[in-house]
Amino acid sequence: MSDQDLQVRVIAELKTVMDPDLNKDIVSLGFIKNMNVTGGNVKFQVELTTPACPVKEQLKTECETKVRAVDGVKNVEVEMTAMVRPAEHSQPILENVKNIIAVASGKGGVGKSTVATNLAMALQMTGAKVGLMDADIYGPSIPQMLGIPISAPKGGADNKFFPHEQYGLKVVSAAFLSKEGQPLMLRGPMLGGIIQQFLQNVEWGELDYLVIDLPPGTGDVQLTLTQRAPLSGAVVVTTPQEVSLIDAEKGVRMFDSVKVPMLGIVENMSYFVCDGCDKKHHIFKSGGGQTLAEKFKVPFLNEIPLVGEVVEGGDKGVPVIMADPSSPASKAYKVLAGQVAAQLSIIHSQEGKPAASFELAWKG
Ligand SMILES: Nc1ncnc2c1ncn2[C@@H]1O[C@H](COP(=O)(O)OP(=O)(O)OP(=O)(O)O)[C@@H](O)[C@H]1O
Ligand SMILES: [Mg+2]
Repeated sequence: MSDQDLQVRVIAELKTVMDPDLNKDIVSLGFIKNMNVTGGNVKFQVELTTPACPVKEQLKTECETKVRAVDGVKNVEVEMTAMVRPAEHSQPILENVKNIIAVASGKGGVGKSTVATNLAMALQMTGAKVGLMDADIYGPSIPQMLGIPISAPKGGADNKFFPHEQYGLKVVSAAFLSKEGQPLMLRGPMLGGIIQQFLQNVEWGELDYLVIDLPPGTGDVQLTLTQRAPLSGAVVVTTPQEVSLIDAEKGVRMFDSVKVPMLGIVENMSYFVCDGCDKKHHIFKSGGGQTLAEKFKVPFLNEIPLVGEVVEGGDKGVPVIMADPSSPASKAYKVLAGQVAAQLSIIHSQEGKPAASFELAWKG
């Protein structure tokens, strides 16, 4: 059999490998790159839409197994790569940023900043280029959580400035604009001005994902951001308690009213895992986040356990996902990152098609 004939057979076989999130085969999705078939040796790359793809290993094994079984194939080499697809931006700002993810909650103190930090780190650890914007102007906590000493950002040309860099993440925060320990004294309209600066004057460079940690609630900052920034999607954080769920619902409705796609809901501090015991202890109520996600027909992204390591990581400036990547909380953040990246890929694959029925789901 000629190399060419064998290549045709291999491609036909790869057409039976489906991406479970995008619901299409990997050949039609254009994932197969640089195929080389010589004397029964088959080499190709599978270019996913995100390095954080939750089914990366599963797809690799399936490709290898299926191609190896093709008559005439002696050896298979599959390399998994990724190229994050950009959102279709309607505004020219943040042109080099492919995806902008807002992390929000209705209620304060539910763990937004911790989720935003560990989510950004989890995406970065897969090889993606990631930025983190601390949009909590009055209560910035990202520099503390990432252990970045307070210093003024380096200026560039045309009033632009560079983000701080820590653990491979690019970071901006209002904390860098104030003297250490001094709160920024601002009136409402000035808040919008700072957010505008964060959107227009920061030299982010090329980013696959920009994670934005929002302040709690549905106030000025949220409005400015949702109106001015081309947000790709939002993640709403809740805790299992009823009061938090009610506020989370307001967050979901806010994003819907400004037509920002909901990537999904995260339930933080869902359960407790004690030392030496694998059991999940649901010390508060359980399942509230999931129920909320079902009510609005949006994805439930994951539940994050309540653990001391998370607090310690935030306090010491080394996020738990770096300090102890195999801990239950770190694993939960990695699953969350995979889900978020997968939801963004799904949204991009549907761009140009009618929007999801989520809006109708709750208004109906
Ligand atoms: N999964 C968790 N397990 C244990 N503690 C957690 C967890 N997630 C967050 N925390 C802790 O809860 C506190 C509040 O978290 P965080 O600052 O992230 O909340 P927030 O929603 O950003 O708050 P704010 O609304 O004030 O911005 C912190 O001390 C943090 O370490
Ligand atoms: Mg916060």
